[in-house]
Amino acid sequence: KRRIAVMTSGGDAPGMNGAVRAIVRMAIHYDCEAYAVYEGYDGLVQGGDMIKEMKWEDVRGFLGEGGTLIGTARCMSFYERPGRLTAAKNMILKGIDALIICGGDGSLTGADKFRAEWPSLLEELVNTNQLTAQDCQPFQHLNIVGLVGSIDNDLSMTDATIGCYSSLARICEAIDSVDTTATSHQRAFVIEVMGRHCGWLALMAGVSTGADYIFIPENPPSENWQDEMCEVVKRHRAKGKRKTIVIVAEGAHDQNLTKISPTMVKDLLSQKAGLDTRVTTLGHVQRGGTPCAYDRMLATLQGVEAVKAVLEATPETPSPVICMVENKIERRPLLEAVAQTKKVAEAIEAKDFQTAMKLRDAE
Ligand code: F6P
Repeated sequence: KRRIAVMTSGGDAPGMNGAVRAIVRMAIHYDCEAYAVYEGYDGLVQGGDMIKEMKWEDVRGFLGEGGTLIGTARCMSFYERPGRLTAAKNMILKGIDALIICGGDGSLTGADKFRAEWPSLLEELVNTNQLTAQDCQPFQHLNIVGLVGSIDNDLSMTDATIGCYSSLARICEAIDSVDTTATSHQRAFVIEVMGRHCGWLALMAGVSTGADYIFIPENPPSENWQDEMCEVVKRHRAKGKRKTIVIVAEGAHDQNLTKISPTMVKDLLSQKAGLDTRVTTLGHVQRGGTPCAYDRMLATLQGVEAVKAVLEATPETPSPVICMVENKIERRPLLEAVAQTKKVAEAIEAKDFQTAMKLRDAE
């Protein structure tokens, strides 16, 4: 029987458990054996009990659980060849040659590198007498399939990453709570949201809560943004608004790439706009808690597709990433998606914000 392993990697995201459940059950449905790698790449390098067979009932109740029940880690040793060599050995010892990873772009790129190196890793395992040629013979190709699990919604070629809508909902709930106290005291609040280099969470939270001003990395404000922001806020107040909400993405910066911090914005709102201002940093609250319906659905449909992709793969097929494109589940070449994602960061670094915005729009 074919053995397929699933692993979650990088920052956890609500919906990852739904993906694990779907992969395990779909693998069993197709008469394969399902395995879970615990604690991300750490588990792959440690091997042994960290790679466990999963039965149908082992994933019962997973769908509505937040975080990742099989654990995750940001593993350093896998980024070095000796770590990957041990990982390859552990997989062969377990008879696994297909790995489905739910993680961010860094985790997925690491996986594709592993796949490209696989034949030379096997050769080295045989040459160093860690395994015999006979042990390796049935496992000549490694199948890698990616699912994007991240609250940031930062991967190109997919409309939504697993976890982003749960996180957005959590941010909106938090801002709704802040709203009531802000309105009571006629205060201003600066809310910092996650997203790394991507402004999706900040932008969509702003749209969904009617924020007064939003800072995102892809579209930095004009040179005299300090005056502009205060004018906008004052205009809203003049219309009778009793509260002010400014959302700052954690990756926000000005046109010269100088970070715009929530405290900078707070000081401006206090001193220039004369508002009693507080800062609220939502932190990891945004990443925790139960997945929303959309993330459960996305994780399940993508998990199903991932197993199909493993079973249909040939040695020539490039590693796919399972995407959501205009409401349809589709496969895209993993490396192309990662390369396009990198282009956004490069455009921002080159201060070519028009291109950065265009690339994000194209997603
Ligand atoms: O990628 C998800 C994310 O939550 C980012 O939004 C944030 O920048 C980062 O991970 C935080 O990482 P950590 O949990 O390791 O502090």
